[in-house]
Amino acid sequence: LIATEIKPFTLFVGSAKGGVGKSTVTLGLAKAMQRRGVSVGVIDADIHGPSLLTLANFEGRHVFSASKKIVPLIHEGIQYISIGAIVPQYEAIAWRGVMAQRAVLQFLKDVDFNAIDVILIDLPPGTSDIHFAVCQQTDPKAAILVSTPDQVGVNDTVRFYNFLKRMSIDVCGIIYNMTHMSCPSCRHTIYLHDTHHSFPLNEVKILHQLPWSKDLSSHFDHIIQELSHHDYLSKFLIS
Ligand SMILES: Nc1ncnc2c1ncn2[C@@H]1O[C@H](COP(=O)(O)OP(=O)(O)O)[C@@H](O)[C@H]1O
Ligand SMILES: [Mg+2]
Repeated sequence: LIATEIKPFTLFVGSAKGGVGKSTVTLGLAKAMQRRGVSVGVIDADIHGPSLLTLANFEGRHVFSASKKIVPLIHEGIQYISIGAIVPQYEAIAWRGVMAQRAVLQFLKDVDFNAIDVILIDLPPGTSDIHFAVCQQTDPKAAILVSTPDQVGVNDTVRFYNFLKRMSIDVCGIIYNMTHMSCPSCRHTIYLHDTHHSFPLNEVKILHQLPWSKDLSSHFDHIIQELSHHDYLSKFLIS
């Protein structure tokens, strides 16, 4: 019997900008996929600002397996790998690009993920060595854009989109984050930006507009429903 290895599908979550909700979206998507029975691994590729474990609300340290591979941390059925679980908390990770890139390459190659269908990669802001590394070293793959609906956020995200196009990476769509909130007393919708600046390129599908909220889980279920129409992801996301 020959065991055929099915490669997990890699989904990047990115934007060129910090603070727009990339990590929040990565985590929300991971949990929503897990609720649908998909086996998910999450790579925190934000080497200089690892925040995934904090957002996921758990702690842990990585250990190495007998085969010298990094053992992911498992929390609520999701497998995680983060530099935050290797270096001491609050330590400044003042690594040059090559070092950070090497760490991410190790996350891609030397992690003992257990039977995963999808790898979500939480990317750092910018278009750095790390982005090149993940783009070149993963297959099959696609990306999701995250942006706040303001001019600065959208401009950076367009730059990131152009980078992905140059790397021939399929973009599933854009998620606008923190666009509105519901008034706690009267439930009236409050828009948090004067104008909703949209992506100037209409080839990018709008997947969702996430409100400012503590509980976004139903929104992520909705996004997963949208993603289930994607050629590759449909294999894993059948309801
Ligand atoms: N839709 C949202 N509602 C409420 N808080 C949010 C939302 N999206 C992000 N946040 C918060 O905003 C901060 C930045 O989000 P984060 O996901 O860390 O951004 P990034 O990874 O792009 O730097 C975090 O404290 C996060 O909890
Ligand atoms: Mg982040």
